[in-house]
Amino acid sequence: MKRYISDVKTPKVSIAPMIDRTVRHFRYFCRLLTKRSLLYTEMITTHAIIHGNRDIILGFDDFEKPIALQVAGSNPEEIYQAVKIAEKWDYDEINLNVGCPSNRVSGHMMGAVLMAYPKLVAEMVSAIREATDKPVTVKHRIGIDGRGILPEDSPKIVFDKYEDMSKFIEIVEKSKVDRFTVHARIAILAGLSAKENRNVPPLKYEDVYRLKKDFPYLNIEINGGIKTLSQINEHLNYVDGVMLGRVAYDNPYLLTEIDGLFENGDVNNISRKEVIEGLITYIEKIENNGGNVYEALRHTLGLFYGVAGSKEWRRLITPPWKKGYSGKDILEEALRILPKESLAESELIMNS
Ligand SMILES: Cc1cc2nc3c(=O)[nH]c(=O)nc-3n(C[C@H](O)[C@H](O)[C@H](O)COP(=O)(O)O)c2cc1C
Repeated sequence: MKRYISDVKTPKVSIAPMIDRTVRHFRYFCRLLTKRSLLYTEMITTHAIIHGNRDIILGFDDFEKPIALQVAGSNPEEIYQAVKIAEKWDYDEINLNVGCPSNRVSGHMMGAVLMAYPKLVAEMVSAIREATDKPVTVKHRIGIDGRGILPEDSPKIVFDKYEDMSKFIEIVEKSKVDRFTVHARIAILAGLSAKENRNVPPLKYEDVYRLKKDFPYLNIEINGGIKTLSQINEHLNYVDGVMLGRVAYDNPYLLTEIDGLFENGDVNNISRKEVIEGLITYIEKIENNGGNVYEALRHTLGLFYGVAGSKEWRRLITPPWKKGYSGKDILEEALRILPKESLAESELIMNS
């Protein structure tokens, strides 16, 4: 069979799908900070897309683009249906979740447990391809320990060797995958919480580098525990792209530096003052539509991470607010009282 060689360019940096975090408000905030990186939605199940309030679940502001929709499911027909529905919103990419370790997800044959069923994953990728012309990508782990979750009579229960992952890739790539994003640790499906599964199993970046070496024609993006610009640069020596998760949420201002890693890219010289001014425009829209402004502002709590004014910023934007204050009033007060050097700062802060 002829190999599929994707002509979809891997972004040097993307912002990971994170439930309850990479919602539209956070993505808008991210887009003020980085113009070039690819932003992911949080994981959305096929069930939610098919049966839920689609405008709320799938809606986004064009300002957030480019944006990838991450779907989770286990049934090719439902995936097809969900992706067909999502076509109306014109996402830039559809990503399949094969990495979530949560019991709620894995127990329903979604997420990381699917690494034990590569043929089913391949069928799901094909179903997505049938439903859309957009790039189709897969986010997975380097392996899984399925003890306690996979049926005891399964031919194999622990998939924690490099060879297990490369077999998975060999089968799934046949369905034409534009990029594999690999979270460089296994998922332990029973006994560890989702949070522990992001910290406890050791990171094995070498397995991801080896994947790129063994499958040089595939687009490979690495994920897991990457926190600084110098670490991103180091990984880019071995793989096509880097996905940032928690650090983007906890220390978002570092995102201003990553556009410089893209072809002909420059760091985004936006100051925190300008970010807050951008937020004022955004939350005025929300306020005018009767929306909950704190729902948007809570995703910006990390804006002053590591610089003077961090505590004051968190205190200012967290309710209860001064009587009669609107979101705009709060942000204008922040511009008045937060330290000038932090508001104006645009110096590099990631190279720690
Ligand atoms: C709060 C939270 C929610 C997450 N939700 C998702 C999700 O919906 N889909 C997914 O593929 N990964 C999810 N992840 C995993 C991240 O995408 C990423 O793989 C993981 O955090 C490791 O990257 P990091 O060390 O850069 O954070 C989530 C992580 C966090 C912290």
